[in-house]
Amino acid sequence: MAQHGFPETMHEVEKEAARHLWFHGSEENWEELTEQEGMRVFARGEGSTLWDVRGRAYLDGLSGLFVVNAGHGRREIGEVMAEQAGRVAYTAASTCSNDQAVRLAVKLADITPGDLSRVFLVSGGSEAVETAIKIARQAQAMRGFPRRYKIIARRGSYHGMTHGAMSLTASRVEKYHGPFMYGVSHVPSPNRYRNDFGLTGEDGDLMCACYVEQEIENQGPETVAAVIGEPVSTSNGNHVPSPRYWQMLRDICDRHGVFLIMDEVINGFGRTGKMFAGEHFGVVPDLMTIAKGLSSGYAPIAGVMAREEVFEGFTGEGKPIEHLLTFGGHAVASAAALRNIQIIEDENLVERSAQSGAYLMEGLQTLESHPTVGDVRGIGLMCCVDLVKDRTTRKAWGATHAFTKDLAARIRDRGLLTRVWGEIHLGPPLVITRDEIDSIVGIIDESLTETEDRFASEIA
Ligand SMILES: Cc1ncc(COP(=O)(O)O)c(C=O)c1O
Repeated sequence: MAQHGFPETMHEVEKEAARHLWFHGSEENWEELTEQEGMRVFARGEGSTLWDVRGRAYLDGLSGLFVVNAGHGRREIGEVMAEQAGRVAYTAASTCSNDQAVRLAVKLADITPGDLSRVFLVSGGSEAVETAIKIARQAQAMRGFPRRYKIIARRGSYHGMTHGAMSLTASRVEKYHGPFMYGVSHVPSPNRYRNDFGLTGEDGDLMCACYVEQEIENQGPETVAAVIGEPVSTSNGNHVPSPRYWQMLRDICDRHGVFLIMDEVINGFGRTGKMFAGEHFGVVPDLMTIAKGLSSGYAPIAGVMAREEVFEGFTGEGKPIEHLLTFGGHAVASAAALRNIQIIEDENLVERSAQSGAYLMEGLQTLESHPTVGDVRGIGLMCCVDLVKDRTTRKAWGATHAFTKDLAARIRDRGLLTRVWGEIHLGPPLVITRDEIDSIVGIIDESLTETEDRFASEIA
């Protein structure tokens, strides 16, 4: 057996990472990246900045993965976690609970919209989505509709990578992971830049809502359990729909006895400039998934919020939820989430997100002078720059084009962590400062100029 001692030098740490870590969903050649000194193994963070093991500083333009809303290096969260671990770290999720999970449940009932007052705590966003699917299906069956099992999701959606959540995810990979959960269909999603129906403005959003109703009727309302969507979809490029879109979906679901699930895994906890994004649209879903910003990443914790009316169906003999996850309601994770929410409230991070988001959007709009910037859009601190070859046709470069890869490398080498697909995605910590926002815009501006020079012959 090989000997695996912990490496001594920074270069060795990177090499060991390439050798032994299995990076999630990454297409990078990690050995090659290590040789080029492009591997990032982080050792420290504070606010919106991360330092790698070599001491190089990076601006975290994506809060990890839209997670670290309260910013890095929050010792106060670490302190309550340490204290809680010293008292009690874990209690079972089924037959009992612990004071931190109870406190968290009360807090969540208080800050989430409408009568979402019951929480099923889990460890991550995919688990939350799995849980929402199961609650919706079992609730329908217990209401006397055992054939209502279908779920309608949206094109471009991302809901996670466990089997059920992946089945709802539009980019699921059939050749490796099919067959998927039966009974999922995908409908068009609001998109004012490249609308599926060739419509512009609000009309396009409303047509997407009408399509949901058609899909319910097409599937047979007696077979549909739920409709799921992110209030503002990140994976689909931050298109902010008209409030009427969500209000129509609420209405359509009510008329057909279908549950409305809002996936607030990214949107929640201030990311969009409201505590929860559904608040922008004045709509309360039946079920709402939460994760990521719930603890700002200080502990793996997530949950499903349910309206009391949905929960009531599960009380009584023979009606418990057929669902148990060992780490649900973990005491240390719950303590971390509670302290994190307190920080979000005490430091007015929701309002800061709205204000800093507006400032970031202003900065990004100055990039519209670039021939490859087709659109800039978003809400709060969740926005993107849509990259095109041709501003007239709005033809995208796509995530795998050399233009995109070149731009991504330049942005990274200038010290900004982000995600460059068809769009440059941004979602920095809610504590980001104006100077840091100026740096983000400057880095993108300079990188775009260089990449555009290199690919000038391909730009229309
Ligand atoms: C909207 C949405 N739902 C669910 C998930 C899955 O969350 P997790 O990766 O924590 O399982 C994600 C992850 O990015 C997400 O963006």
